Formats: sequence, structure tokens, C-alpha cells
Amino acid sequence: MYTQSFTTDTTTLKSVERSSAEDAAKMAVFDTKIDADGRIEPQDFMPEAYRKTLVRQISQHAHSEIVGMLPEGNWILRAPSLKRKAILIAKVQDEGGHGLYLYSAAETLGTSRDELLDALHTGKAKYSSIFNYPTLTWADIGVIGWLVDGAAIMNQIPLCRCSYGPYARAMVRICKEESFHQRQGYEALLTMMKGSQAQRDMVQDAVNRWWWKCLAMFGPPDSDSPHSVQGMRWGIKRISNDDLRQKFVDATVPQAEVLGVSLPDPDLKWNETRGHYDYGQIDWDEFWQTVNGHGPCNRERLATRVRAHNNGQWVRDAALAYAEKQRQRAMKEAA
Ligand SMILES: [Fe+2]
Ligand SMILES: [Fe+2]
Repeated sequence: MYTQSFTTDTTTLKSVERSSAEDAAKMAVFDTKIDADGRIEPQDFMPEAYRKTLVRQISQHAHSEIVGMLPEGNWILRAPSLKRKAILIAKVQDEGGHGLYLYSAAETLGTSRDELLDALHTGKAKYSSIFNYPTLTWADIGVIGWLVDGAAIMNQIPLCRCSYGPYARAMVRICKEESFHQRQGYEALLTMMKGSQAQRDMVQDAVNRWWWKCLAMFGPPDSDSPHSVQGMRWGIKRISNDDLRQKFVDATVPQAEVLGVSLPDPDLKWNETRGHYDYGQIDWDEFWQTVNGHGPCNRERLATRVRAHNNGQWVRDAALAYAEKQRQRAMKEAA
């Protein structure tokens, strides 16, 4: 028994040595590719932690796209004109499409769509916290386009150069559509600002309510963001949270001036030395409260999402039955 055990151990040891040597060689290929700014494709070797990070990030992104349809979808029936309704339908539909590209990209990493959706519906997976706030007036829809989609673009443009091929390619198309979302929002607000005093007040009120939440969208400060360093090393994250936030502030202040609204931050001013705008303190307690499920609409959003999924069961059943029918027919023809 000892001998046999010993013999087995030697064999195991040898195979462990061989496989760890193989792993080291594969790891070296992965590292070289990352260092050379190359792309990792689904069939390539990748360390488990890289795969897990990507599944988490891409699925959170996909969930954010489809949950993001809800606050705006609420306004399709209340849009003020046929033109605004058509634009809003197109935008909400785009967001659904973004979710589909991203779920497909996440699936290339070996996780099924059902598992991803289950994590969302049971509250295990996160989505962008910005969608847990209510859309109180029509101006909110314009502000979401201008600021929320504007912040999303700032976040997402660097992802077009992400080291994981399927994610990077999905982002190229998404960013083009996000740019339309941002412009339609800004244009809707410009129109309202040329209208009555009540309309201008409505825009200002929406800006006041969304501004700080949009700054928080870039995530915690770099000093509290330990995952970012590894994400940068792997070429998943290219620009830090604070740098992206600064870019957003710098780009948005002149747009607010053209629009004729004020941004609700007494500390917001141009800093000649830094060549950037300084801005005030973000309320991180409020941010974490919402991330952890205690925002004003967390429960409602999740409940609506689960209801929509359950109501769609008949579509999935019908698609499967149709595919089965096609398969049977093909088999019969082949026989
Ligand atoms: Fe989107
Ligand atoms: Fe969008």
C-alpha cells in the first residue's frame, strides 16, 4: 500500500510539475500579450482571477444597461410630443441592445446567461446605483441623457481599448450609440431652456438632483479603490476613477454654461494652477447606502425587472419550441 501510494504520488508529482511548467509558460504568453497591449480572446489562456474580474465587470455593466431602461421607460407614455416619444423609444431600445451585446460578451467567458440573470434577480449582482433614483419630471429624462449617459461615455470610451477582445469590440458600438443618447438629452434640455420659466425651473431642479449622483457614478476615490490597480495592470481599466471624474467635470461645466443652468456646488471653480475645475465633497455615505440596497428605488427596480423576466417566459418557451421543431424537421429531412 505504501509503495503503491508512493508510486502514485511520484506520478502525481511529475504531472503537477509538468502542468505547473505548462501553466507558467501559458502565463508568460498572457503577460507578454498584456504588456504589449494586445488582445486576449475567449480561446486564449487567461488566469482565473482575470476571467472572474471580467465576468463580474461585464455582467454588472449588462445589468446596468437593462435596469437603466426602467426609469426612462416610465416616461415613454408621457413624452411631450411624438418626436420626443420616438427618440426616447429608440434610446431605451438601444439600452436593451447594449445589455444583449454585453451578456453575449460575458458568455464567452464560460458563464451562462441564466446564471448571470439569476444573480441579478436574486440581488447577488450589482448594477449602476444611478438607476435607483426616481425620474420625477420630463426634465429628468433630458438630464439623464446629458449627464448620466455623458458620464457613461467618459467611463466607457477607455473600455474600447480593454484587453479582452469581445468586451472591447462591444464597447465600440455602444459608445457610438451613447453619444446619440447624450446629445438627444442635451438638445431636449436646450429646448426646455428656451421655453417658459416653469420649464427652466424644472431643468434646474433636475440638474440639482442628479449632479452629485453623476459624479459618484465614477466610483469611490482612487485611495479607496483597491481593485483598480489590478484592473489597470490587466488593461481592463485604463483611467482611474478620480481622473475620469475630473475629465467629466471639466467637459460638463462649459456645457452647463451654454445651457444656462448652474451646477449645485459652491466649491466648483477653475483652478489655474491645476488646469482643471475644483469641486466639492461627494456624499459617499449616501452612495454606499444606495449601492447596498437602501436607495429610494432599489426594491422597485428589482421587482419590475423580475416581473418583466417572468412575463417573458412564454417568449423563451416559444423560441425553444420553435428551435426544437426546426431540429426535428432537419432530422427528418436528413433521414
Ligand atoms: Fe447604454
Ligand atoms: Fe445610454
